[in-house]
Amino acid sequence: MSKKDADNSLDSIVALCKRRGFVFPSSEIYDGFTAVYDFGPYGVELANNIKKEWWRAMTQLRDDIVGLDAAIFMSPKVWQASGHVKGFSDPLTECRQCHSRLRLDTLLEEAGILADEKMSEEEINNIFENNKSKIKCPNCGSSDFTPGKNFNLLVQSNLGNFTGDWSKEPIYLRGETCQGIYVNYKNVLNSTRVKIPFGIAQIGKAFRNEITTRQFIFRTREFEQMEMQYFVKPGDDMKYFEQWRQTRWQFYLDLGIKEKNLQWHKHENLVFYAQEAYDIEYKFPFGFKELEGVHARGDYDLSVHSQSSGIDLDYLDPISNEKYIPHIIETSAGVGRTFLAILTESYREERVGEELRTVLALPSKLAPIKIAIFPLLKNKPELVVRAREIFDFLKLNWRCEFDDNGNIGKRYRRQDEIGTPYCVTVDFDTLEKGEVTVRERDSMQQTKIKVENIKKYFQDKF
Ligand code: GAP
Repeated sequence: MSKKDADNSLDSIVALCKRRGFVFPSSEIYDGFTAVYDFGPYGVELANNIKKEWWRAMTQLRDDIVGLDAAIFMSPKVWQASGHVKGFSDPLTECRQCHSRLRLDTLLEEAGILADEKMSEEEINNIFENNKSKIKCPNCGSSDFTPGKNFNLLVQSNLGNFTGDWSKEPIYLRGETCQGIYVNYKNVLNSTRVKIPFGIAQIGKAFRNEITTRQFIFRTREFEQMEMQYFVKPGDDMKYFEQWRQTRWQFYLDLGIKEKNLQWHKHENLVFYAQEAYDIEYKFPFGFKELEGVHARGDYDLSVHSQSSGIDLDYLDPISNEKYIPHIIETSAGVGRTFLAILTESYREERVGEELRTVLALPSKLAPIKIAIFPLLKNKPELVVRAREIFDFLKLNWRCEFDDNGNIGKRYRRQDEIGTPYCVTVDFDTLEKGEVTVRERDSMQQTKIKVENIKKYFQDKF
Protein backbone atom coordinates (compact mmCIF):
# COMPACT_ATOMS: atom_id res chain seq x y z
CA MET A 1 0.00 0.00 0.00
CA SER A 2 1.39 3.44 -0.89
CA LYS A 3 1.71 6.07 1.85
CA LYS A 4 -1.17 8.00 0.29
CA ASP A 5 -3.44 4.92 0.31
CA ALA A 6 -2.38 4.16 3.87
CA ASP A 7 -3.19 7.71 4.96
CA ASN A 8 -6.53 7.49 3.16
CA SER A 9 -7.44 4.24 4.79
CA LEU A 10 -6.47 5.50 8.26
CA ASP A 11 -8.36 8.75 7.55
CA SER A 12 -11.49 6.76 6.61
CA ILE A 13 -11.30 4.81 9.89
CA VAL A 14 -10.71 7.98 11.92
CA ALA A 15 -13.67 9.65 10.17
CA LEU A 16 -15.94 6.67 10.83
CA CYS A 17 -14.89 6.62 14.49
CA LYS A 18 -15.89 10.27 14.88
CA ARG A 19 -19.05 10.10 12.74
CA ARG A 20 -20.46 7.04 14.43
CA GLY A 21 -19.37 7.58 18.01
CA PHE A 22 -16.45 5.17 18.42
CA VAL A 23 -13.59 7.53 19.27
CA PHE A 24 -13.48 11.27 19.92
CA PRO A 25 -10.41 13.47 20.42
CA SER A 26 -10.15 14.36 24.10
CA SER A 27 -11.45 17.77 25.21
CA GLU A 28 -12.35 18.62 21.64
CA ILE A 29 -14.39 21.74 22.48
CA TYR A 30 -11.15 23.17 23.94
CA ASP A 31 -9.17 22.39 20.75
CA GLY A 32 -8.37 18.86 21.89
CA PHE A 33 -5.57 17.48 24.03
CA THR A 34 -2.63 15.85 22.27
CA ALA A 35 -2.43 12.07 22.23
CA VAL A 36 -5.44 11.46 24.44
CA TYR A 37 -8.72 10.06 23.09
CA ASP A 38 -12.17 9.29 24.47
CA PHE A 39 -14.20 6.21 23.57
CA GLY A 40 -17.75 7.13 22.51
CA PRO A 41 -20.95 5.09 22.98
CA TYR A 42 -20.04 2.38 20.44
CA GLY A 43 -16.31 2.59 21.16
CA VAL A 44 -16.79 1.76 24.81
CA GLU A 45 -18.86 -1.30 23.82
CA LEU A 46 -16.21 -2.51 21.36
CA ALA A 47 -13.37 -1.90 23.83
CA ASN A 48 -15.33 -3.71 26.57
CA ASN A 49 -15.95 -6.66 24.24
CA ILE A 50 -12.22 -6.89 23.43
CA LYS A 51 -11.38 -6.82 27.15
CA LYS A 52 -14.11 -9.39 27.85
CA GLU A 53 -12.62 -11.79 25.29
CA TRP A 54 -9.13 -11.36 26.73
CA TRP A 55 -10.34 -11.80 30.32
CA ARG A 56 -12.37 -14.86 29.34
CA ALA A 57 -9.39 -16.43 27.52
CA MET A 58 -7.04 -15.70 30.40
CA THR A 59 -9.12 -16.39 33.49
CA GLN A 60 -12.39 -18.18 32.68
CA LEU A 61 -11.07 -20.79 30.25
CA ARG A 62 -8.02 -21.66 32.36
CA ASP A 63 -7.61 -22.70 35.95
CA ASP A 64 -3.98 -21.59 36.26
CA ILE A 65 -4.54 -17.83 35.96
CA VAL A 66 -6.20 -15.47 38.42
CA GLY A 67 -7.17 -11.84 38.00
CA LEU A 68 -6.06 -8.67 39.75
CA ASP A 69 -6.92 -4.99 39.69
CA ALA A 70 -4.07 -3.06 41.30
CA ALA A 71 -4.26 0.71 41.81
CA ILE A 72 -2.83 3.17 39.30
CA PHE A 73 -0.89 4.97 42.03
CA MET A 74 1.92 2.99 43.60
CA SER A 75 4.81 3.75 45.87
CA PRO A 76 7.56 5.57 43.93
CA LYS A 77 9.90 2.89 45.28
CA VAL A 78 8.27 0.49 42.80
CA TRP A 79 9.42 2.60 39.85
CA GLN A 80 12.90 3.05 41.27
CA ALA A 81 13.32 -0.67 41.84
CA SER A 82 11.92 -1.62 38.43
CA GLY A 83 14.44 0.67 36.71
CA HIS A 84 11.81 2.99 35.21
CA VAL A 85 13.00 6.13 37.02
CA LYS A 86 16.48 5.73 35.55
CA GLY A 87 15.94 3.93 32.29
CA PHE A 88 12.40 4.25 30.93
CA SER A 89 13.13 6.70 28.17
CA ASP A 90 13.02 7.39 24.45
CA PRO A 91 15.69 9.27 22.48
CA LEU A 92 14.52 12.80 21.67
CA THR A 93 15.67 15.82 19.70
CA GLU A 94 14.31 19.32 19.35
CA CYS A 95 14.03 21.22 16.07
CA ARG A 96 15.96 24.47 16.62
CA GLN A 97 13.69 26.35 14.19
CA CYS A 98 10.15 25.45 15.33
CA HIS A 99 10.98 23.83 18.70
CA SER A 100 9.01 20.64 17.92
CA ARG A 101 10.12 17.74 20.08
CA LEU A 102 10.65 14.65 17.96
CA ARG A 103 11.53 11.01 18.51
CA LEU A 104 14.80 10.06 16.87
CA ASP A 105 13.75 6.58 15.76
CA THR A 106 10.59 7.98 14.11
CA LEU A 107 12.54 10.75 12.35
CA LEU A 108 15.03 8.22 11.02
CA GLU A 109 12.32 5.78 9.95
CA GLU A 110 10.45 8.54 8.09
CA ALA A 111 13.66 9.61 6.34
CA GLY A 112 14.07 6.02 5.11
CA ILE A 113 17.13 5.43 7.31
CA LEU A 114 17.16 2.01 8.92
CA ALA A 115 16.17 2.39 12.57
CA ASP A 116 13.36 1.26 14.80
CA GLU A 117 12.23 1.66 18.38
CA LYS A 118 13.71 -1.70 19.33
CA MET A 119 17.33 -0.55 18.73
CA SER A 120 19.30 0.61 21.75
CA GLU A 121 19.18 4.35 22.45
CA GLU A 122 22.93 4.62 21.88
CA GLU A 123 22.63 2.98 18.45
CA ILE A 124 19.78 5.29 17.45
CA ASN A 125 21.71 8.34 18.67
CA ASN A 126 24.77 7.39 16.61
CA ILE A 127 22.74 6.82 13.45
CA PHE A 128 21.02 10.18 14.02
CA GLU A 129 24.29 12.10 14.50
CA ASN A 130 25.72 10.57 11.31
CA ASN A 131 22.65 11.37 9.20
CA LYS A 132 21.47 14.71 10.57
CA SER A 133 21.81 16.56 7.27
CA LYS A 134 19.47 14.11 5.48
CA ILE A 135 16.68 14.44 8.05
CA LYS A 136 14.00 17.12 7.91
CA CYS A 137 11.65 18.33 10.63
CA PRO A 138 8.12 17.14 9.64
CA ASN A 139 6.68 20.44 10.87
CA CYS A 140 8.97 23.11 9.31
CA GLY A 141 11.41 21.25 7.03
CA SER A 142 14.54 22.39 8.88
CA SER A 143 17.52 20.08 9.43
CA ASP A 144 18.79 22.02 12.42
CA PHE A 145 18.35 19.73 15.43
CA THR A 146 19.69 19.68 18.99
CA PRO A 147 21.85 16.65 19.88
CA GLY A 148 19.77 13.59 20.81
CA LYS A 149 19.08 13.01 24.50
CA ASN A 150 17.05 10.52 26.48
CA PHE A 151 13.65 11.63 27.70
CA ASN A 152 12.00 9.79 30.61
CA LEU A 153 8.46 8.65 29.81
CA LEU A 154 7.08 8.34 33.34
CA VAL A 155 4.23 10.78 34.06
CA GLN A 156 4.60 12.57 37.39
CA SER A 157 1.74 13.69 39.62
CA ASN A 158 1.44 15.85 42.71
CA LEU A 159 -0.52 13.24 44.67
CA GLY A 160 -0.24 13.95 48.38
CA ASN A 161 2.06 16.92 47.82
CA PHE A 162 0.18 19.51 49.90
CA THR A 163 3.14 21.79 50.41
CA GLY A 164 4.16 22.30 46.79
CA ASP A 165 7.68 21.25 47.81
CA TRP A 166 8.87 19.67 44.59
CA SER A 167 12.24 18.68 46.02
CA LYS A 168 10.33 15.70 47.49
CA GLU A 169 10.28 12.46 45.58
CA PRO A 170 7.74 12.59 42.75
CA ILE A 171 4.79 10.18 42.59
CA TYR A 172 4.10 8.61 39.21
CA LEU A 173 1.08 7.44 37.30
CA ARG A 174 1.92 3.85 36.45
CA GLY A 175 3.85 3.40 33.23
CA GLU A 176 2.78 -0.26 32.84
CA THR A 177 0.25 -2.40 34.67
CA CYS A 178 2.51 -5.39 35.34
CA GLN A 179 4.32 -3.74 38.26
CA GLY A 180 1.05 -4.08 40.22
CA ILE A 181 1.23 -7.81 39.52
CA TYR A 182 4.83 -8.20 40.71
CA VAL A 183 4.27 -6.38 43.98
CA ASN A 184 1.10 -8.45 44.65
CA TYR A 185 2.63 -11.80 43.69
CA LYS A 186 3.11 -12.84 47.32
CA ASN A 187 -0.39 -11.68 48.32
CA VAL A 188 -1.91 -13.79 45.55
CA LEU A 189 0.26 -16.76 46.48
CA ASN A 190 -0.77 -16.52 50.14
CA SER A 191 -4.47 -15.95 49.57
CA THR A 192 -5.32 -18.40 46.77
CA ARG A 193 -4.46 -21.99 45.91
CA VAL A 194 -2.28 -21.20 42.87
CA LYS A 195 0.82 -23.31 42.36
CA ILE A 196 3.64 -22.85 39.92
CA PRO A 197 3.18 -22.61 36.98
CA PHE A 198 0.47 -19.97 37.35
CA GLY A 199 -0.40 -16.55 36.02
CA ILE A 200 -1.86 -13.26 37.19
CA ALA A 201 -3.85 -11.23 34.67
CA GLN A 202 -4.73 -7.56 34.81
CA ILE A 203 -6.41 -4.98 32.60
CA GLY A 204 -5.89 -1.32 33.37
CA LYS A 205 -4.75 2.13 32.42
CA ALA A 206 -1.12 3.09 31.94
CA PHE A 207 0.40 6.51 31.26
CA ARG A 208 3.47 7.57 29.31
CA ASN A 209 4.83 10.91 28.25
CA GLU A 210 5.09 9.75 24.62
CA ILE A 211 7.01 12.03 22.28
CA THR A 212 5.66 10.92 18.91
CA THR A 213 1.91 10.74 19.04
CA ARG A 214 0.60 10.53 15.50
CA GLN A 215 -1.27 7.49 14.09
CA PHE A 216 -4.51 8.04 16.00
CA ILE A 217 -4.97 5.69 18.98
CA PHE A 218 -1.88 3.62 18.15
CA ARG A 219 0.36 5.59 20.50
CA THR A 220 -1.37 7.65 23.16
CA ARG A 221 -0.29 9.13 26.47
CA GLU A 222 -3.11 7.45 28.39
CA PHE A 223 -3.93 3.90 27.28
CA GLU A 224 -5.10 0.56 28.54
CA GLN A 225 -3.02 -2.61 28.78
CA MET A 226 -4.05 -6.26 29.09
CA GLU A 227 -1.08 -7.90 30.80
CA MET A 228 -0.51 -11.39 32.10
CA GLN A 229 2.56 -12.53 34.03
CA TYR A 230 3.11 -16.30 34.09
CA PHE A 231 5.32 -17.56 36.92
CA VAL A 232 7.38 -20.65 36.10
CA LYS A 233 10.14 -22.75 37.59
CA PRO A 234 13.62 -21.64 36.44
CA GLY A 235 14.58 -23.77 33.47
CA ASP A 236 11.00 -24.20 32.26
CA ASP A 237 11.03 -20.72 30.68
CA MET A 238 11.36 -21.67 27.04
CA LYS A 239 8.72 -24.41 27.20
CA TYR A 240 6.09 -21.97 28.49
CA PHE A 241 7.37 -19.13 26.35
CA GLU A 242 6.65 -21.18 23.22
CA GLN A 243 3.22 -22.17 24.54
CA TRP A 244 2.35 -18.55 25.19
CA ARG A 245 3.55 -17.48 21.76
CA GLN A 246 1.12 -19.97 20.17
CA THR A 247 -1.72 -19.08 22.56
CA ARG A 248 -1.46 -15.35 21.97
CA TRP A 249 -1.18 -15.75 18.20
CA GLN A 250 -4.35 -17.88 18.20
CA PHE A 251 -6.16 -15.24 20.30
CA TYR A 252 -5.94 -12.75 17.43
CA LEU A 253 -7.05 -15.33 14.87
CA ASP A 254 -10.05 -16.06 17.12
CA LEU A 255 -10.86 -12.33 17.08
CA GLY A 256 -11.20 -12.59 13.31
CA ILE A 257 -7.80 -11.22 12.31
CA LYS A 258 -6.43 -12.80 9.15
CA GLU A 259 -3.13 -14.59 9.63
CA LYS A 260 -1.58 -12.78 6.65
CA ASN A 261 -1.99 -9.51 8.58
CA LEU A 262 0.05 -10.75 11.55
CA GLN A 263 3.78 -11.34 11.86
CA TRP A 264 6.37 -12.03 14.53
CA HIS A 265 9.17 -9.60 15.30
CA LYS A 266 12.06 -11.09 17.23
CA HIS A 267 13.95 -8.60 19.42
CA GLU A 268 17.64 -8.62 18.58
CA ASN A 269 18.66 -6.15 21.32
CA LEU A 270 17.55 -7.93 24.45
CA VAL A 271 17.78 -6.13 27.79
CA PHE A 272 20.36 -7.85 29.96
CA TYR A 273 17.88 -9.94 31.98
CA ALA A 274 15.61 -11.05 29.11
CA GLN A 275 15.96 -14.54 27.69
CA GLU A 276 13.79 -14.08 24.62
CA ALA A 277 11.42 -11.40 23.37
CA TYR A 278 9.00 -11.43 20.46
CA ASP A 279 6.30 -9.00 19.40
CA ILE A 280 3.15 -9.84 17.51
CA GLU A 281 2.83 -7.17 14.84
CA TYR A 282 -0.31 -6.26 12.93
CA LYS A 283 -0.49 -4.74 9.47
CA PHE A 284 -1.98 -1.36 10.37
CA PRO A 285 -2.67 1.13 7.53
CA PHE A 286 0.78 2.61 8.29
CA GLY A 287 2.58 -0.76 8.16
CA PHE A 288 3.37 -3.71 10.42
CA LYS A 289 3.62 -2.41 14.01
CA GLU A 290 3.60 -3.90 17.49
CA LEU A 291 0.30 -5.16 18.85
CA GLU A 292 1.58 -7.25 21.76
CA GLY A 293 4.83 -8.32 23.37
CA VAL A 294 5.54 -11.88 24.55
CA HIS A 295 8.70 -11.79 26.64
CA ALA A 296 10.68 -14.24 28.78
CA ARG A 297 11.87 -11.96 31.59
CA GLY A 298 13.80 -14.39 33.78
CA ASP A 299 13.78 -13.62 37.53
CA TYR A 300 14.51 -9.92 37.04
CA ASP A 301 11.21 -8.42 38.22
CA LEU A 302 10.72 -10.41 41.41
CA SER A 303 14.45 -10.22 42.24
CA VAL A 304 14.64 -6.43 42.05
CA HIS A 305 11.48 -6.03 44.13
CA SER A 306 12.69 -8.55 46.66
CA GLN A 307 16.07 -6.84 46.99
CA SER A 308 14.59 -3.38 47.11
CA SER A 309 11.75 -4.09 49.57
CA GLY A 310 13.69 -6.57 51.72
CA ILE A 311 10.72 -8.99 51.42
CA ASP A 312 11.41 -12.60 50.57
CA LEU A 313 9.65 -13.29 47.28
CA ASP A 314 10.86 -16.89 46.97
CA TYR A 315 8.45 -19.65 46.04
CA LEU A 316 8.50 -22.80 48.16
CA ASP A 317 7.58 -25.84 46.09
CA PRO A 318 5.07 -27.76 48.25
CA ILE A 319 6.15 -31.15 46.88
CA SER A 320 9.92 -30.93 46.34
CA ASN A 321 10.53 -28.27 49.04
CA GLU A 322 12.73 -26.41 46.56
CA LYS A 323 12.95 -22.64 47.11
CA TYR A 324 13.43 -20.28 44.21
CA ILE A 325 12.48 -16.93 42.69
CA PRO A 326 10.09 -17.81 39.87
CA HIS A 327 10.88 -16.77 36.32
CA ILE A 328 8.30 -14.82 34.37
CA ILE A 329 6.78 -15.09 30.92
CA GLU A 330 4.93 -11.89 30.12
CA THR A 331 2.20 -11.30 27.56
CA SER A 332 1.40 -7.61 27.19
CA ALA A 333 -1.22 -6.23 24.81
CA GLY A 334 -2.83 -2.83 24.32
CA VAL A 335 -6.61 -2.37 24.23
CA GLY A 336 -6.35 0.67 21.91
CA ARG A 337 -4.05 -1.12 19.47
CA THR A 338 -6.28 -4.20 19.38
CA PHE A 339 -9.24 -1.87 18.84
CA LEU A 340 -7.48 -0.20 15.89
CA ALA A 341 -6.42 -3.57 14.46
CA ILE A 342 -10.01 -4.86 14.66
CA LEU A 343 -11.32 -1.71 12.95
CA THR A 344 -8.64 -1.94 10.24
CA GLU A 345 -9.51 -5.58 9.68
CA SER A 346 -13.27 -4.99 9.58
CA TYR A 347 -13.57 -1.75 7.63
CA ARG A 348 -14.66 -2.03 4.04
CA GLU A 349 -16.35 0.05 1.40
CA GLU A 350 -18.32 -1.68 -1.32
CA ARG A 351 -20.57 -0.71 -4.19
CA VAL A 352 -24.21 -1.70 -3.91
CA GLY A 353 -25.96 -0.56 -7.10
CA GLU A 354 -25.36 3.18 -7.31
CA GLU A 355 -24.40 3.52 -3.68
CA LEU A 356 -21.18 3.13 -1.72
CA ARG A 357 -21.80 1.03 1.39
CA THR A 358 -19.43 1.30 4.36
CA VAL A 359 -19.45 -1.80 6.54
CA LEU A 360 -17.66 -2.79 9.71
CA ALA A 361 -17.60 -6.57 9.29
CA LEU A 362 -16.97 -7.16 13.01
CA PRO A 363 -17.21 -10.66 14.45
CA SER A 364 -20.52 -10.89 16.35
CA LYS A 365 -18.78 -11.29 19.71
CA LEU A 366 -17.08 -7.91 19.27
CA ALA A 367 -19.93 -5.95 17.66
CA PRO A 368 -21.09 -3.11 19.94
CA ILE A 369 -24.75 -3.81 19.03
CA LYS A 370 -25.79 -7.35 18.21
CA ILE A 371 -29.35 -6.70 16.98
CA ALA A 372 -31.14 -3.52 15.85
CA ILE A 373 -34.93 -3.50 15.92
CA PHE A 374 -36.91 -1.21 13.62
CA PRO A 375 -40.61 -0.51 13.22
CA LEU A 376 -41.14 -0.12 9.46
CA LEU A 377 -42.97 3.19 9.95
CA LYS A 378 -42.51 5.61 12.80
CA ASN A 379 -46.01 7.05 12.49
CA LYS A 380 -47.87 3.73 12.92
CA PRO A 381 -48.22 3.29 16.70
CA GLU A 382 -49.19 -0.39 16.38
CA LEU A 383 -45.84 -1.14 14.64
CA VAL A 384 -43.86 0.96 17.11
CA VAL A 385 -45.48 -0.75 20.12
CA ARG A 386 -44.83 -4.26 18.70
CA ALA A 387 -41.22 -3.35 17.80
CA ARG A 388 -40.67 -2.02 21.33
CA GLU A 389 -42.03 -5.26 22.79
CA ILE A 390 -39.59 -7.28 20.67
CA PHE A 391 -36.72 -4.93 21.63
CA ASP A 392 -37.61 -5.28 25.34
CA PHE A 393 -37.60 -9.07 24.95
CA LEU A 394 -34.31 -9.38 23.01
CA LYS A 395 -32.40 -6.85 25.12
CA LEU A 396 -32.56 -9.27 28.05
CA ASN A 397 -30.08 -11.50 26.21
CA TRP A 398 -28.23 -9.28 23.75
CA ARG A 399 -27.08 -5.68 23.44
CA CYS A 400 -29.81 -4.27 21.17
CA GLU A 401 -30.76 -0.92 19.75
CA PHE A 402 -34.21 0.41 18.89
CA ASP A 403 -34.26 2.72 15.89
CA ASP A 404 -37.25 4.38 14.22
CA ASN A 405 -35.36 7.31 12.71
CA GLY A 406 -35.33 7.89 8.93
CA ASN A 407 -36.15 5.40 6.20
CA ILE A 408 -35.17 1.74 6.50
CA GLY A 409 -32.29 2.15 4.02
CA LYS A 410 -30.71 4.84 6.20
CA ARG A 411 -31.15 2.74 9.31
CA TYR A 412 -29.43 -0.22 7.64
CA ARG A 413 -26.56 2.05 6.58
CA ARG A 414 -26.12 3.33 10.14
CA GLN A 415 -26.10 -0.20 11.57
CA ASP A 416 -23.68 -1.42 8.83
CA GLU A 417 -21.26 1.34 9.82
CA ILE A 418 -21.28 0.37 13.47
CA GLY A 419 -21.01 -3.33 12.62
CA THR A 420 -24.40 -4.61 13.82
CA PRO A 421 -24.70 -8.19 12.51
CA TYR A 422 -28.54 -8.33 12.40
CA CYS A 423 -31.45 -5.93 11.91
CA VAL A 424 -35.03 -6.95 12.66
CA THR A 425 -37.85 -5.07 10.94
CA VAL A 426 -41.37 -5.10 12.32
CA ASP A 427 -43.96 -4.53 9.57
CA PHE A 428 -47.60 -5.32 8.87
CA ASP A 429 -46.76 -9.02 8.42
CA THR A 430 -45.68 -8.98 12.06
CA LEU A 431 -49.15 -7.86 13.12
CA GLU A 432 -51.01 -10.12 10.70
CA LYS A 433 -48.84 -13.25 10.47
CA GLY A 434 -46.53 -12.91 13.46
CA GLU A 435 -43.42 -12.65 11.21
CA VAL A 436 -40.46 -10.26 11.28
CA THR A 437 -37.77 -9.67 8.63
CA VAL A 438 -34.20 -10.37 9.74
CA ARG A 439 -31.52 -8.75 7.59
CA GLU A 440 -27.96 -10.01 7.80
CA ARG A 441 -25.19 -7.38 7.62
CA ASP A 442 -22.58 -9.00 5.37
CA SER A 443 -24.78 -10.80 2.82
CA MET A 444 -27.64 -8.24 3.15
CA GLN A 445 -29.93 -11.25 2.83
CA GLN A 446 -33.39 -10.93 4.34
CA THR A 447 -35.23 -13.82 6.00
CA LYS A 448 -38.74 -13.97 7.41
CA ILE A 449 -38.97 -15.64 10.80
CA LYS A 450 -41.78 -16.19 13.30
CA VAL A 451 -41.65 -13.92 16.34
CA GLU A 452 -42.15 -16.93 18.62
CA ASN A 453 -38.88 -18.41 17.24
CA ILE A 454 -36.83 -15.23 17.48
CA LYS A 455 -34.90 -16.08 20.65
CA LYS A 456 -33.96 -19.53 19.39
CA TYR A 457 -32.99 -18.03 16.02
CA PHE A 458 -30.48 -15.64 17.61
CA GLN A 459 -29.24 -18.21 20.11
CA ASP A 460 -28.24 -20.32 17.12
CA LYS A 461 -26.67 -17.34 15.35
CA PHE A 462 -24.55 -16.08 18.25
N1 GAP B 1 5.01 -4.58 30.60
C1 GAP B 1 5.60 -4.53 29.31
C2 GAP B 1 5.20 -3.38 28.53
O1 GAP B 1 4.54 -2.46 29.01
P1 GAP B 1 5.35 -2.34 26.14
O2 GAP B 1 5.84 -2.95 24.84
O3 GAP B 1 5.90 -1.04 26.53
O4 GAP B 1 5.62 -3.44 27.24
C3 GAP B 1 2.98 -3.39 25.88
O5 GAP B 1 3.78 -2.25 26.06
C4 GAP B 1 1.81 -3.09 24.95
O6 GAP B 1 1.10 -1.95 25.43
C5 GAP B 1 2.22 -2.73 23.52
O7 GAP B 1 2.40 -3.88 22.74
C6 GAP B 1 1.03 -1.90 23.06
O8 GAP B 1 -0.02 -2.74 22.62
C7 GAP B 1 0.60 -1.19 24.34
N2 GAP B 1 1.18 0.17 24.39
C8 GAP B 1 2.40 0.53 24.84
N3 GAP B 1 2.57 1.86 24.77
C9 GAP B 1 1.43 2.36 24.24
C10 GAP B 1 0.96 3.68 23.92
N4 GAP B 1 1.71 4.76 24.15
N5 GAP B 1 -0.26 3.81 23.37
C11 GAP B 1 -1.04 2.73 23.16
N6 GAP B 1 -0.68 1.48 23.46
C12 GAP B 1 0.54 1.29 23.99
